[in-house]
Amino acid sequence: MITAINGTPHVTDIALIDGNDGRRSQILASLLSFYKVCPYGNSSFALQAIEQFPPKVVVIDETAPPLGGFEVLARIRKNSILKDVGVILVLANDRDGIVESVRQQRWCDCIVRPFRRSELIRRISSLTNRKVEQKWRDLPLIQQKVLNKSLEVIHSVSDAIDEGSPISDAALSEASSSLVCAVTNSDFRSVLNGLRNHDNYTYVHSVRVAILLTLLGKTIGLKESDLLLMAGCGLLHDVGKMTIPHDVLNKAGKLTLTEWQMMQGHVEASVRCLIATGNIHRVIISIAEQHHEKLDGTGYPKGLSGDAINELTRMAAISDVFSALTDVRVYKPAMKAEKALTIMSEEMAGHIDQHLLGTFGALMLDIGSEEGADTTEN
Ligand SMILES: [Fe+2]
Ligand SMILES: [Fe+2]
Repeated sequence: MITAINGTPHVTDIALIDGNDGRRSQILASLLSFYKVCPYGNSSFALQAIEQFPPKVVVIDETAPPLGGFEVLARIRKNSILKDVGVILVLANDRDGIVESVRQQRWCDCIVRPFRRSELIRRISSLTNRKVEQKWRDLPLIQQKVLNKSLEVIHSVSDAIDEGSPISDAALSEASSSLVCAVTNSDFRSVLNGLRNHDNYTYVHSVRVAILLTLLGKTIGLKESDLLLMAGCGLLHDVGKMTIPHDVLNKAGKLTLTEWQMMQGHVEASVRCLIATGNIHRVIISIAEQHHEKLDGTGYPKGLSGDAINELTRMAAISDVFSALTDVRVYKPAMKAEKALTIMSEEMAGHIDQHLLGTFGALMLDIGSEEGADTTEN
């Protein structure tokens, strides 16, 4: 999807229309890590721009001058070019059941001010991922639970980052137990397939790491309580990435030094967020803190080496690197499992525990090379 700022076309996900500068800035900041957002203060100008270059979703305040949100919504719904664009109307209050009547319209939703960051992200995500998430309904209950509850955990993290509120215990426990159940029954492939084309990269990557880490734990004989912990480690190891701007997180080229430092900062942000929520197991926090450490001491943030890096952290690092190499990104297709394993055993030989990698590699090849291809875009 493309839109224009100052006449220059560029890719965008969300058109944000609100005449109130303070509110617009606040919403823009809350979506910074998730989407490319184009802000507009004038709804007439915005309508012209989005007609020319439709975004995936329009978020419009009901008061946006001069047309107002309801008029813009009506014009969007009448416009065949914009028929697939999702619209979220931001309302000052719910009067006369207006929320329900808006939600009955095709690809429409609304949200009443004031709202939590997670609620807006969840509603946008439901619209941008509607085709992906629709397919989840055809899956068996356990796989549906893995996908839905993990998404709930990831969404609740945005409030944890903003407010230090606890990450949902119930969602984390349900996501972890259904994930362990899917892995122990070898029913995880449809979960990996279900992640295809979902636009929340941190979510997709985290669920993949959780599955791979739990699989590795199962293979080396960890007991169920440890597998539950492994699932939680995978789901929460990168939550700090939700503080990094979308442009940096999804940059195709080489990062500048400043951008690289910002990227490395996700570790500290993860630890800060997980500690602040007050209900996260210390092992999960330690994996979030250490999964980028390397055996030869060249990792970050502390440059730990050798025996200072325990077995669980080594397992997490392997699952994380393999997942990062085989993840689909906006700037690269999935790498084949065999190629990823070769890079990890040759170019990264000094970084990664090669004995554990042997077990992990055999496992990946045993369950089929689709691990690397499973999230390839259709
Ligand atoms: Fe990370
Ligand atoms: Fe990661």
